[in-house]
Amino acid sequence: MHLGRKTLSKYLIENVSGSKDGADLAALLVDVAAAVKAISALSSKGALGGATGSMDTTNVQGETQKKLDVLSNTAFVNTFELGGLVAGVASEEMDDPFPVRAPHKRGPFLAIFDPLDGSSNIDGNVSVGSIFSILRAPDGKEPEMQDYLKPGTEQVAAGYALYGPATLLVITVGKGTHGFTLDREVGNFILTHPDIQIPADTNEFAINTSNERFWEPPVIRYISECKAGKTGVRERDFNMRWIASMVAEVHRILIRGGIFLYPKDTKEPLKPGRLRLLYEANPMSMIVEQAGGLSSTGRERIMEVVPTQIHQRIAVILGSSHEVARVIQYHQEHDEGKGEPFSSPLFSERGLFRA
Ligand code: F6P
Repeated sequence: MHLGRKTLSKYLIENVSGSKDGADLAALLVDVAAAVKAISALSSKGALGGATGSMDTTNVQGETQKKLDVLSNTAFVNTFELGGLVAGVASEEMDDPFPVRAPHKRGPFLAIFDPLDGSSNIDGNVSVGSIFSILRAPDGKEPEMQDYLKPGTEQVAAGYALYGPATLLVITVGKGTHGFTLDREVGNFILTHPDIQIPADTNEFAINTSNERFWEPPVIRYISECKAGKTGVRERDFNMRWIASMVAEVHRILIRGGIFLYPKDTKEPLKPGRLRLLYEANPMSMIVEQAGGLSSTGRERIMEVVPTQIHQRIAVILGSSHEVARVIQYHQEHDEGKGEPFSSPLFSERGLFRA
């Protein structure tokens, strides 16, 4: 029992409900928490809940849908459609956004979400999560595509749920980043991680190194310097982690620092990155920036990118501010024609093209 500790509802009443549309936003976040509790209950049953395994369907990205992807999407869609607080909904699992129509009540917000991120991990019983972004809806009319295509700076709230050994809900309404842990027996989210601050320095990086041959030179430079450790220009050892679940990765970074990179690469030249701008990169960027970290493509602040498509992909480099700033600097030096040749593996002491 956690009597006397702050619940999510109390946090929202104290910090959100007083602002413009605040009571509605607070109520919407309570709805998000309800959907998260339903997904948490389902995912924690594993194979016993009948929700593991794949469907015969693919989503708009061409990815095979897991049963839990579809069930989680339904949980969010129903919650938002019945809640009366949003005017429209967009999801990773749906080709197009859809407007809330009568008999349902239209609310003042738009909800954009990835119902189950990292879902390739489900059958391995590895942590997965949900990510959401809340925008203002247009006044009094049905939302159109352009209403969803807003830069991340226009988000009024963002967050994620992490379904790990514990279920956590981490949110921001632009007043810091705060984490709530689900007390499963009682059914309450309790404020356990107030005002999270990402350490500016870190010795831990997260990247899928199997893509190394497709990376751009500034990323090759940064990672090769980390891997060189004490013997290289960084003069200290680094550690590497890769869970292949962005929510789990970002959460670890919020708790103990680190840098996460899913950079632009040439693996699929038509895709400018792997992660999705509107329901992965933008909400995570707001969470990270509100916790004192940085989030960039390497060349621009992610939250300032003006989206052109609902399922648009983007390069993501986020986390501890000093490390992200270094990667941005390496991109700048590369674009100015200086920098990485002398620190890339090919130009190292035993490299082919020693300068
Ligand atoms: O949808 C995105 C995602 O599942 C992220 O959660 C994760 O960081 C990434 O893809 C993993 O990608 P890869 O399969 O290339 O390791």
